[in-house]
Amino acid sequence: MDKMLNEKTIKEKLDTIYIGKDFYFFEETSSTFDEAKKICLKNGSIICAKRQTNGRGRLGRSWQSENGGIYFSVILKPEMETAEVHIMTALCAVGIQRAIESLIPCYIKWPNDIVTGSGKKICGILTRLEANSENEKYINVGIGINANTKVFDDELKYASSIALAKDEDIDENELLCTCLKQIENICDAKDYTLIMEEYKSKCINLGKRVRILYAHEDKSETGECIDISKDGCLVIKKDDGTYANVNSGEVSVRGIYGEDYV
Ligand code: BTN
Repeated sequence: MDKMLNEKTIKEKLDTIYIGKDFYFFEETSSTFDEAKKICLKNGSIICAKRQTNGRGRLGRSWQSENGGIYFSVILKPEMETAEVHIMTALCAVGIQRAIESLIPCYIKWPNDIVTGSGKKICGILTRLEANSENEKYINVGIGINANTKVFDDELKYASSIALAKDEDIDENELLCTCLKQIENICDAKDYTLIMEEYKSKCINLGKRVRILYAHEDKSETGECIDISKDGCLVIKKDDGTYANVNSGEVSVRGIYGEDYV
């Protein structure tokens, strides 16, 4: 089926200046994070796999990575402080949301998930700050899109795919190229403030009540999401009236009025 990821088609369709000019394609790998460590990477290098045998998700979870999904890492080497890594992740989420929105209505769920209108997760993003053998820092933005995935592991109650939402298979090569083009547009933007405003306008959590589940403690709290801070934290007004800024490495967030996003 020529809608399935295919290195030759991607290279023919890709219309970017530097994102994906170095393009590494794998029929199967353990994880694009593992491949990145073996390759000498440039700003904008892409590592893409059709299938991962050890795909990693946030908060130590695994990421189901069968054929039909799109699994890729974007390597970025911006001049920035460690704290700003969160911003790059949020910016990439906006790029991916724009690309998927060309196929189905979709939104951003803090920190970096893309969900359908009914709150089903169709994409996740996990960013790592890494260093190469010369101790040069780079950011690896790992993106997993449930493009044509039809079957999910039993525990993934809130997962879906673009094909299931659209009721037809989509062209994986076309979608990947659109994502890379959008990421390049966003990375080249002079002012990230506008893109963070776009993030907020598309974020389903803002103004909603949430339950915050702490990953490393047996504790949860409830409150209202009132903002996203400049460094990508979710700002919560807790039910006890105090405020908390929570970062994506610490918590997962669920809606508590029926819309139980995971
Ligand atoms: C999440 O938990 O929502 C983040 C999922 C990130 C999955 C992607 S797929 C490409 C990259 N390689 C991995 O092993 N994980 C990320």
